Amino acid sequence: MIAEIELELTRMRGAKIHRGPYQSGRVVGCDGGLVEVSGLPVPIGTLCKIQSDAGQENALAEVIGFRGGHSLMLLLGDTVMLRPGALVRAQGEPGTVRVGPALLGRAVDSTGAAMDGGPPPDLRESWPLGGRRESALERASVLEPFDCGVRAVNALNTMGIGQRIGIMAGSGVGKSVLIDMVAGFAEADITIVGLIGERAREVSDFVARHMSGAQLGRTVLVAVPADHAPSLRLRGAQYACAMAEYFRAQGKRVLLILDSLTRVAHAAREIGLLLGEPGSARGYPPSALAAITRLVERAGNSHTSGGAITGIYSVLADGDDQNDPVVDTARAILDGHIVLSRELAQRGHFPAIDVPQSLSRVMDQVVSEEHLRKAREMRALIATAETNRDLVMLGAYRAGNDPQLDRALAMQETINAFLQQDKSAPVNMPDSIQQLAEMMPDEI
Ligand SMILES: Nc1ncnc2c1ncn2[C@@H]1O[C@H](COP(=O)(O)OP(=O)(O)OP(=O)(O)O)[C@@H](O)[C@H]1O
Ligand SMILES: [Mg+2]
Repeated sequence: MIAEIELELTRMRGAKIHRGPYQSGRVVGCDGGLVEVSGLPVPIGTLCKIQSDAGQENALAEVIGFRGGHSLMLLLGDTVMLRPGALVRAQGEPGTVRVGPALLGRAVDSTGAAMDGGPPPDLRESWPLGGRRESALERASVLEPFDCGVRAVNALNTMGIGQRIGIMAGSGVGKSVLIDMVAGFAEADITIVGLIGERAREVSDFVARHMSGAQLGRTVLVAVPADHAPSLRLRGAQYACAMAEYFRAQGKRVLLILDSLTRVAHAAREIGLLLGEPGSARGYPPSALAAITRLVERAGNSHTSGGAITGIYSVLADGDDQNDPVVDTARAILDGHIVLSRELAQRGHFPAIDVPQSLSRVMDQVVSEEHLRKAREMRALIATAETNRDLVMLGAYRAGNDPQLDRALAMQETINAFLQQDKSAPVNMPDSIQQLAEMMPDEI
């Protein structure tokens, strides 16, 4: 208790004192989640408090635009008993979030408030929520392999430190489980996980599994479950990126995981439509897809600090449609994608990675010639077996007609065993490469 009071006192001592009169505005309109406020000319991105009746919690809102001299704000959190004429006051510095080492080992929401029942984290530094725009030359190339602890990825779709990769699949095919495996197995100085728009149950599962032991001191969780307001969801994703950037600026190698990018796009779509933007591709206004691009572009290697953000984003292919606008945008901007296949999942093949369809665009820069050759060889065998699967099942193929297919069929079982992995057993990079080399000997 005393420690908490002391923490609060230090925070107060460090806080900037606002001299001069407080400016406040008044609510003049409310339409859905959009609140119109007069008399408060504050910049976009400012957080504001809307006073409510005595005994009720004040509502939080974020300025997202202005029109005819009025500020347009989006209510964060649930709709409260809002009344016309309610007082509105700006809060904090506009467009920035609080960050600091005290985040490590904590689970927070998109405003930085603790979700794990602990005291409020003591965050003394601020960071722009939308990130700092940097020159393209500030991004160093991806040159080192990233060990994600999943054999099929390490061996056949090797990731690099500073790469941004998407995990794409329909619902219930295993995106979250794969992401969970990587969060537990991967080698990184700091792991930041944003669970955005997912189920509340998955958040508590994640905390129970990953926020303990040695992993605790290097993991941060930002969680905004599905039932939260769209601006909170978008903010949650931006906050996770801001934290990652803050640690990267200190030279740390950060692993940033966002589950899921699609839910962030949904949130941005809701905000865009509320502001009256026309929906184009599948109802996504251009700003929603631009928000995704901006978010993904924030990951990568930094020349100045030597730090890195390796980004892993899950992308939901609605109705298994790989041409969904979010899937398309993500595929175009990311440095690779891991496609999960429902068919494999139905056969009980986990992780259900569709190797021929998956691609790591940095693999040839981060692995040896030999590794690359063997990976290509195995990918070709998998693709051959997959394309001829129906033919073989029907008994229409006679052995001897195609040596490549014969080899693929002979090795099918061992390859399948190689691709599958228990979700609690990591396989590191050297072991993955060695097992690949053993399966693809040079003499054949
Ligand atoms: N590696 C695995 N090993 C065993 N079972 C798995 C594995 N991956 C996925 N599953 C099974 O598939 C189910 C769905 O997985 P998961 O929750 O990861 O799907 P998802 O793609 O994240 O779905 P959604 O889009 O709905 O969030 C799991 O509950 C589990 O039963
Ligand atoms: Mg999921």
